[in-house]
Amino acid sequence: MDLEKVFHMTEGVGVTSYARNSSLQKKASDMVKHITTETVQEIFLATTPKSLGVADLGCSSGPNTFTVIKDIVEAVEGTSHKMLHPPPEFRVYLNDLPTNDFNSIFKALPEFYRELRKGKNGGSPSIFIGGFAGSFYGRLFPNNCLHFIYSSYSLHWLSRVPPALYDEKGRSINKGHVYISASSPPQVSQAYYQQFQEDFTLFLRSRSEELIAGGRMALIFLGRRGPDHVDRGNYFFWELLSRSFGHLIAKVPPVRFQNIF
Ligand SMILES: C[S@@+](CC[C@H](N)C(=O)[O-])C[C@H]1O[C@@H](n2cnc3c(N)ncnc32)[C@H](O)[C@@H]1O
Repeated sequence: MDLEKVFHMTEGVGVTSYARNSSLQKKASDMVKHITTETVQEIFLATTPKSLGVADLGCSSGPNTFTVIKDIVEAVEGTSHKMLHPPPEFRVYLNDLPTNDFNSIFKALPEFYRELRKGKNGGSPSIFIGGFAGSFYGRLFPNNCLHFIYSSYSLHWLSRVPPALYDEKGRSINKGHVYISASSPPQVSQAYYQQFQEDFTLFLRSRSEELIAGGRMALIFLGRRGPDHVDRGNYFFWELLSRSFGHLIAKVPPVRFQNIF
């Protein structure tokens, strides 16, 4: 399956859209908001650029990306005000996979600009927002154009299903499961680990070309505290999902389902 072509959050603003079902992700970014804003303030103070480049990688199409941009803009403006330094213009690069609902983001921009202008007596920030479609497991932006890179709840999506999950005959070594589970053989967690290492290395290599020297990143993604790969926090709902699939499959007439997992 080509993830770049098919993978996306549910578009639009309907009841099942990502935009209306992303409070969990908001909670995660809110928890570390102080780290995000302090980091961007530090890079602003260290470089005092006229034009500050900021990217949100895996921005999706909900309100969360606007919240974080607003937080960043306000934090930098606050710092520039305190330092009696003119605020920079903001270049904001929003990235997601090509099938992401960028249209919803663009349609929401006028309201977002109005929101930023509120209470500013006309002195609104200069902000230029653009969408960049493509996988963050590769180059996305020109050299040295970014001061700060933010990515939340996105980097735990791998670039592909790890090939090591299949034996030489193309059969899954993780039968009956959709992720690492208590009864998965150890090769399964190794396969995911290897894929993550490969992907994350490519991510860092690409970003190192795009960040200015001394630029910073704030990356929020799922992990676990200990070395045990069967950690309740992460594997719990995959276990439920694979069991639900198992029940569904048991109900349908016998067709060729064996390659799904
Ligand atoms: C759960 S959403 C998080 C969205 C947003 N950052 C938030 O906190 O609400 C994960 C997003 O990452 C995007 N994504 C996954 N893999 C990606 C990749 N390789 N390159 C760019 N975006 C990716 C998905 O399309 C999805 O929109």
